Amino acid sequence: MPETANQSLSRRQFIAGTTGVVAATVAGGCSNPDAQTDERPAGVPVSPFGRDSTAMEVTEGLDLRGKTAFITGCNSGLGLETMRVLTQRGVHVIGAARTLEKAETACAAMTGTATPVACELSELQSVADCGRAVRAMGMPLDIVILNAGIMSLPELEQVNGIERQFFVNHIGHFTLASYLTDQAIAAEQGRFVILSSSGHSAAPDAGIEFDNLSGERDYRPMKMYGQSKLANGLFTRELARRLSGTNATANCVHPGVINTNLGRHFPKWQLVAAELIGWTFMKSLEAGAATQTYVATAPVLAGYSGYYFADCNPVMPDPRMLDDAQAAQLWTVSEEIAGEFLHA
Ligand SMILES: NC(=O)c1ccc[n+]([C@@H]2O[C@H](COP(=O)([O-])OP(=O)(O)OC[C@H]3O[C@@H](n4cnc5c(N)ncnc54)[C@H](OP(=O)(O)O)[C@@H]3O)[C@@H](O)[C@H]2O)c1
Repeated sequence: MPETANQSLSRRQFIAGTTGVVAATVAGGCSNPDAQTDERPAGVPVSPFGRDSTAMEVTEGLDLRGKTAFITGCNSGLGLETMRVLTQRGVHVIGAARTLEKAETACAAMTGTATPVACELSELQSVADCGRAVRAMGMPLDIVILNAGIMSLPELEQVNGIERQFFVNHIGHFTLASYLTDQAIAAEQGRFVILSSSGHSAAPDAGIEFDNLSGERDYRPMKMYGQSKLANGLFTRELARRLSGTNATANCVHPGVINTNLGRHFPKWQLVAAELIGWTFMKSLEAGAATQTYVATAPVLAGYSGYYFADCNPVMPDPRMLDDAQAAQLWTVSEEIAGEFLHA
């Protein structure tokens, strides 16, 4: 039986509890919190970069001028830092935030070129409007970083009858991707980079609970976050399969543990503790943005698709993220949920 958060509070779980974001890594209720191993998938290039490398370092010397990227969650945390580095390296970034005002403020702070768009992932009309706006821009998308996310809502919240973390983190991005795929395929080597988390190991033992997407049965904040992050990984896997035969690729990443606004829903004592001792085990924001930036830009990764990266290198995820049958089922169920809002 998996140990639940209430059954014991180990030292590691205590440390985890000192920050909202670290709970993404060692989530309560997780049967195998260290499911992500250092084992590497065969044949995928290993980089000289690691845990402390920054997004600036992993793009050092790259000429990214002329490339276009799209990023969700551009106004905060990892998305903002990734946009900062990409624009500094010459990429035109289309930055999406929940409101146009937030996107405009974030984009205006960039030294390079950034175009703001609104995308509220919990409202599929907003997602569709964003997708159409980006399609209307017409340019190939070299990089699509599906980065926005929420974590560990204390009480069950639903969107259209679906648990909110699953809806925002997965369904919103799944719907958005349907609009952006043509432009990624049109690029010389378009790359989807999807933010998962090692917190995917907190998902239910059997993987996605398709009979409980409402979240009403046994709602636990980190279990549902884990399920949404597992969904990000399974979506990546099926997207990669569907992109095979094109020049486009899809990979997902665990960025590390970084003290961003992601922990906003955690109790105040945990946030205070994170401020006090988080430095002992967390990455800086600059290092936190490195893995997604590396996977989005590293020339050596051209053509590699369907992999999971952490600390700027390919690693093996929890086996539940390698379940092709569940990845296919998730795609079908997600299409049903997104319905008329999907790009045909
Ligand atoms: N930080 C970590 O330790 C860690 C670890 C593993 C994985 N991750 C993943 O990294 C990604 C980025 O997280 P972060 O750490 O940078 O957190 P963050 O600072 O809280 O940024 C999250 C971004 O997502 C946006 N967002 C939230 N709800 C949204 C919605 N309904 N529609 C559109 N955008 C929405 C937020 O917008 P607002 O600011 O307007 O709310 C914000 O821009 C997430 O997918 C997260 O799961 C982070």
